[in-house]
Amino acid sequence: MTSSPPLKQINHSRRPKQSVFTQQELPACKPILTAGSFIAVFLLLGLIFIPIGVASLVASQKVVEVVYRYDVDCVPPNYSNNKLEFIQNPQIDKTCQTKLTTLITRYFQIPKDMKSPIFVYYEIRGFFQNHRRYANSKSEKQLMDKSYENETGSCSPEAISSNNGTIVPCGLIAWSLFNDTYRFTLDDKPLPINKKNIAWESDKNYKFGSDVYPKNFQSGSIGGGKLNSSIPLSEQEDLIVWMRTAALPTFRKLYGKIEKDLKAKDVITSEIQNNYNIYSFDGEKKLVLSTASWIGGKNNFLAIAYTIVGVVCLLLGLVTIVLYMYMPRPLGDPSYLSWNQKQNQNCLLISSN
Ligand SMILES: *[C@@H]1O[C@H](CO)[C@@H](O)[C@H](O)[C@H]1NC(C)=O
Ligand SMILES: *[C@@H]1O[C@H](CO)[C@@H](O)[C@H](O)[C@H]1NC(C)=O
Ligand SMILES: *[C@@H]1O[C@H](CO)[C@@H](O)[C@H](O)[C@H]1NC(C)=O
Repeated sequence: MTSSPPLKQINHSRRPKQSVFTQQELPACKPILTAGSFIAVFLLLGLIFIPIGVASLVASQKVVEVVYRYDVDCVPPNYSNNKLEFIQNPQIDKTCQTKLTTLITRYFQIPKDMKSPIFVYYEIRGFFQNHRRYANSKSEKQLMDKSYENETGSCSPEAISSNNGTIVPCGLIAWSLFNDTYRFTLDDKPLPINKKNIAWESDKNYKFGSDVYPKNFQSGSIGGGKLNSSIPLSEQEDLIVWMRTAALPTFRKLYGKIEKDLKAKDVITSEIQNNYNIYSFDGEKKLVLSTASWIGGKNNFLAIAYTIVGVVCLLLGLVTIVLYMYMPRPLGDPSYLSWNQKQNQNCLLISSN
């Protein structure tokens, strides 16, 4: 008996296969949010978040900060309408002497002492280090490894110098290196700024090579700071700090540390070299002295966010307790369904008739 081979069955339907996955029957945890668990979770969240918020608020309030905007003051009066000419003329002396006081009464009720280390930052406003073309304008290979010296990646137009040599470090970020300098004196004695260990350890060890030396840097049009070509990139900490680009147009970067306690009402004389051109884009420059706490510098945002979330959770928990106590209702009672309620009313009406 010969039989034709069975016709191949082709499943044309769009029916999913019969399996636990396609039928969405995988074992799952479906917790039911009862009033009890809701109250417990929200009270717990409140009790965790409020202490964290208060603790960080206290820490943030303890941070003492002196901020001085110098880009306006440090231009001589006869150049105040022509700041660009002042900053671009290399003949003009850019030294700027000002007195800074640690008299913090303007910001706090009581003047406070500052405990070392005191961090010295420069703050720039209106500088978009996050611009796509700018942030890409560097060559990670070149910064890291001497054998990739000629790999300039996306560095153009700051890749090849006017004498046809490769620029190391290439790119716009390095080229625009911040070049203002600060010096402080306290009671006519110099107050040293320690510029060691201001960059991230991981950047120094893994992103900037210890055998890569600056070459042909700032030899054409000068963008900003210069680099000592006998020091390897891994020890050029100002460059490393500058090249960790900021995410927002207002940013602070670490300049150095003062390793000496300052007393309230101390007067520090600062000598600022006002070199860096932020006038062509209406930027601002500030000098910041700040102590630090365990959450970092002075910033109330985190503290306030924690406190508000904590308080909201606590209130929700308490309100639910009150509702639960005075208007309890069993979970999943079908008589609360709208159509059931209508029926019940009808029934009631009928029965009362
Ligand atoms: C501004 O004053 C300085 C001296 O105080 C002088 O050398 C300079 O030429 C003046 N500049 C202008 C533009 O008047
Ligand atoms: C980079 O290029 C220059 C000149 O073009 C050359 O002298 C140098 O050896 C090159 N460096 C490397 C690591 O190949
Ligand atoms: C500092 O940078 C500016 C550009 O912002 C440049 O014009 C100036 O020559 C530089 N000065 C020094 C001393 O490097």
